[in-house]
Amino acid sequence: MDGATIEGEGFQSALAPRPPHVPADRVIDFNLHQPVPGGQSVHEFWRDLLASATHDVMWTPHNGGHWLATEPGLCETILADSDRFSSRVVIVPRDPIGETYSNFIPLSLDPPIHGPFRKVLNDNLGPRQVNAVADSIRKLTNELIDAFAGQGHCEFKEEFAEQLPVRIFMSLVDLPEEDLPRLKYLADQFTRPDGTITFPEVEKGFRDYIGPILRERRGASGQDMITNIANAEVNGRPLTDAEAENLTIQALVGGLDTVVNLLSFVFSYLAISPELQAMLASDPVKIEDAMTEFLRRFPVVSDSREARMDIELDGVTILRNDMIMASTVPIAMSEASNPDALDFRLDRKVRRHSVFGRGAHTCPGMHLARLELKIVLTEWFRRIPLFRLKPGTSLSYTSGIVATVNPFELEWDV
Ligand code: HEM
Repeated sequence: MDGATIEGEGFQSALAPRPPHVPADRVIDFNLHQPVPGGQSVHEFWRDLLASATHDVMWTPHNGGHWLATEPGLCETILADSDRFSSRVVIVPRDPIGETYSNFIPLSLDPPIHGPFRKVLNDNLGPRQVNAVADSIRKLTNELIDAFAGQGHCEFKEEFAEQLPVRIFMSLVDLPEEDLPRLKYLADQFTRPDGTITFPEVEKGFRDYIGPILRERRGASGQDMITNIANAEVNGRPLTDAEAENLTIQALVGGLDTVVNLLSFVFSYLAISPELQAMLASDPVKIEDAMTEFLRRFPVVSDSREARMDIELDGVTILRNDMIMASTVPIAMSEASNPDALDFRLDRKVRRHSVFGRGAHTCPGMHLARLELKIVLTEWFRRIPLFRLKPGTSLSYTSGIVATVNPFELEWDV
């Protein structure tokens, strides 16, 4: 854990000295793991950051010292160009989080090795497999709403957003719901570490849990995703125990901490947008349009890449093994991509975003994420057409590899 400390208040990393190949005018004070300044949303924070960037490629001394692409086209290129930018390590700081996470697949593998492992996930998360759970998503959505609709209020994140996607995911992988808090805690450490556990401990926690389950399901006839991974083949041979573990752990991290946050952003925004609520409640057909804008307006993932060679970019030299962040946030929040990027607008002629990434690693969970968002919006507006933030509630946010909204309360008339 060179240069990094784990403290009770969250993840802290010592500042890296500026290396000789980084010009002084490229330095920007940006820390992905810092608290979002009070009163600002994550996306406003990024907008100000982008406005303060003097070049398309900047460098920050935080989180081990890494480059930061601020221009949308560059972010897209870096995410997709695996010949020059490897996804072996995608999380900053590289040490200790990124290197630990690089044990998991398929994200840490570059094409062409990546393809066969990725296919195992595609075979489990394709539109056909996902549509088969639509009724379960609808049923659980209504059960969760049943629990609080009559009382006129709920703590949205804890009582809804943290329940629905993770419980659906637990059923896809056929794991018991009582194990959820433990797994969710472990998954969150990679995306928003809170300093309560070291990363080797997180990895061990996952392996101790998932290893025996995978071995038990080898040769079993279940149809769940973990049984399918345990019995999958790559390049004409079975997955090794380690490969099956590494693939399952990454699917768990992806499945447990992304839709939760998207739902939190969407509903916290809806809570302060009564006109949008009225429109969606009176005309559910508009939900599809609203979804396209929600996905543009609330990108949450900020991954990086490792340079595979020395690369000339925007007038600087990125040295081999340097880390460069290509967050999905600037792609959608840049004014060059979407004029008045912070405005939520259904009538945008052009909508540029990469909320699910770009290239070979584009999210395999996107069909599930979209379906969940659609069903949740449809059922919620059918049951609770008008709601608001509970008086006294102010929205606050946590930045990180996956950004989130901190818990907030909603209320409505009953
Ligand atoms: C709103 C929800 C979601 C968002 C915004 C999201 C976003 C992303 C992004 C941006 C990437 C690309 C990362 C990169 O290239 O560095 C990615 C990859 C991935 N996501 Fe998602 N994701 C979501 C939901 C899910 C779900 C529900 C699952 C699992 C069921 C999942 C599993 C994965 C996996 C395993 C990868 C790595 C794919 C590969 O390397 O080929 N994601 N996701």
